[in-house]
Amino acid sequence: MAPGDNRKVITVSGADALAKAAAKRVLARIAANGDRVAICLSGGSSPKRLYQLLATDAYRTQIPWDRVHWFIGDERFVPADDPLNNMAMARRIFLDHSAPAANIHPIPTDTANPEQSARRYESELKAFYGANELDPARPLFDVVLMGVGPDGHTASLFPDDPALEEAERWVVAVREAHVEPFVPRVTLTLPALGSCREMLFEVSGAEKRPVLTRVLEGENVPAKRAHSTGETIWLVDKAALPENFRER
Ligand code: 6PG
Repeated sequence: MAPGDNRKVITVSGADALAKAAAKRVLARIAANGDRVAICLSGGSSPKRLYQLLATDAYRTQIPWDRVHWFIGDERFVPADDPLNNMAMARRIFLDHSAPAANIHPIPTDTANPEQSARRYESELKAFYGANELDPARPLFDVVLMGVGPDGHTASLFPDDPALEEAERWVVAVREAHVEPFVPRVTLTLPALGSCREMLFEVSGAEKRPVLTRVLEGENVPAKRAHSTGETIWLVDKAALPENFRER
């Protein structure tokens, strides 16, 4: 990463090691906060192994489920039980086994349209946070998980989309996705996602190498623009690293 930016790249070997390293960081953030914890999950395929790990006894028993709240950074505008629904995936793999229902905060998709869904989720986040303005000294989330798509998008913030420039709203609708699945999306904005103690990207697999190369070379794709008011960590499987990259 460019000198002076607050991102840190941590490399690991293989998808299993990546999931373990991510789980360790999530557990450390939970342990560091003795009060109510807020975790913002991500969709797509990258976090699946982490979610599977959190469902195992070794990890599940370390989570104080009563005081951890689970949100989602973006959602596909499909019914809650649709296989494409991001929160449905997290619920199926680990949340529904252990988390109290009141601590699971899905983006509602039973609304008339994605705009209404975005307004409702923004109200829910503001009620949870207890204020209408984000205070940099008091982050909304303890951890925000992120992935990166082939065009450099993250959450549902796509290159050249107006949602990327949103500075006031916490959640917005995105009428057209730029990559599959081509369904409308609802996404948290850069200020809302960035209001966290730790933003944790998970990048794994050789197919991520082209986009990771662009990010590491400093191209201002959405995933590069996303950063935390606290720590921003890129957890990268070596298979996704460009040949010439050296850890700085
Ligand atoms: C989504 C995601 C999206 C995802 C990236 C990476 O709804 O698809 O939230 O931002 O994180 O596209 O996706 P993969 O993990 O499937 O590569």
